[in-house]
Amino acid sequence: MVDKHLSHYHITAELGRGGMGIVYLATDTKLDRQVAIKVLPASALTSESDRARFYREAKAAASLTHPHIAIIHGVDEAVPEGASSEELRPFIAMEYVDGETLEALIEKGPFKVTDAVRIASEVASALQTAHEAEVVHRDIKSANVILSKKGVAKVLDFGLAQTAASTKLTRMGATLGTASFMSPEQARGEQVDHRTDIFSLGVILYHMVAGRLPFGAEYEQAVIYSILNEDPEPLTALRTGVPMELERIVGKALAKDRELRYQNAADLIVDLKALALTETASQTSGRPTPLTSAEAAATAGVATAGAAAAGVLPLPVLLLPLRSMRRKHSGHFL
Ligand SMILES: Nc1ncnc2c1ncn2[C@@H]1O[C@H](COP(=O)(O)OP(=O)(O)O)[C@@H](O)[C@H]1O
Ligand SMILES: [Mg+2]
Repeated sequence: MVDKHLSHYHITAELGRGGMGIVYLATDTKLDRQVAIKVLPASALTSESDRARFYREAKAAASLTHPHIAIIHGVDEAVPEGASSEELRPFIAMEYVDGETLEALIEKGPFKVTDAVRIASEVASALQTAHEAEVVHRDIKSANVILSKKGVAKVLDFGLAQTAASTKLTRMGATLGTASFMSPEQARGEQVDHRTDIFSLGVILYHMVAGRLPFGAEYEQAVIYSILNEDPEPLTALRTGVPMELERIVGKALAKDRELRYQNAADLIVDLKALALTETASQTSGRPTPLTSAEAAATAGVATAGAAAAGVLPLPVLLLPLRSMRRKHSGHFL
């Protein structure tokens, strides 16, 4: 389909293939800007209920505005240039994120703990906004988070998992990778709520720090067995320099019983940010150069960061140094 038109989009390159379809880089010829277009197979929406669900889900996802969620520009169905009229293809036009997926980056090696914690906080903040709007992602995985060239995380594919499930597209293109991020309740085929996304984010965080999946196995059934019954190998056993607090956070996100998990993304963010403060402070301590006022504030936060884990951190201490920290990390990331 490269170099063809689909509606008013001129497709210029293939970006990747996934469970639901092919993603292309395209130019929106009306607005003259680059977009990513996910084109589904012509057979994706065979029934009216599938079609209705596709538009309903896309509408919910398109309502989300957040710096760490890839924007949905539009959904439609069109016949690709040169194809027969039966070839009506549903597609989603979305923000093109120039970068690499976490999955591709992890293949090159594990992340620095500070970067992993920052990225997990960004994804958690995207989840918080979505969950408040009652949108559950259901397919949070390392391949659905792109890190832009500036080091900013963007979550992809909000609102698509339901369509995928209902149209059986997920089964068609199911990969081992996808099962690896499922919560136990999702793996059992039960009703899920927003806490399934928190579990999957726990898997991403583990994946970034360990450089491998917590519930990895050769066969999908073995992965699912592991998700349901096994505890992942402790991060501290896999790598030196992993803070005990990170181990605790990952363990709580990966609790098999969702009642014992973080109950919402906001609570997870508080713990991740408190940990980020201690990590930054321990890295900056002992530096010969004088601290900037923001760094001094970050260091001052250390004394109370332990208390943060106990949930008694005064909010201003937590919030003040974070802005400067985020800039600092995105600056030297990659
Ligand atoms: N908005 C986007 N911007 C840039 N690249 C994208 C975008 N969406 C998807 N991609 C690329 O296309 C690949 C396939 O995407 P997708 O079909 O969603 O796969 P999956 O089913 O694994 O989530 C991704 O791994 C990514 O490299
Ligand atoms: Mg995807």
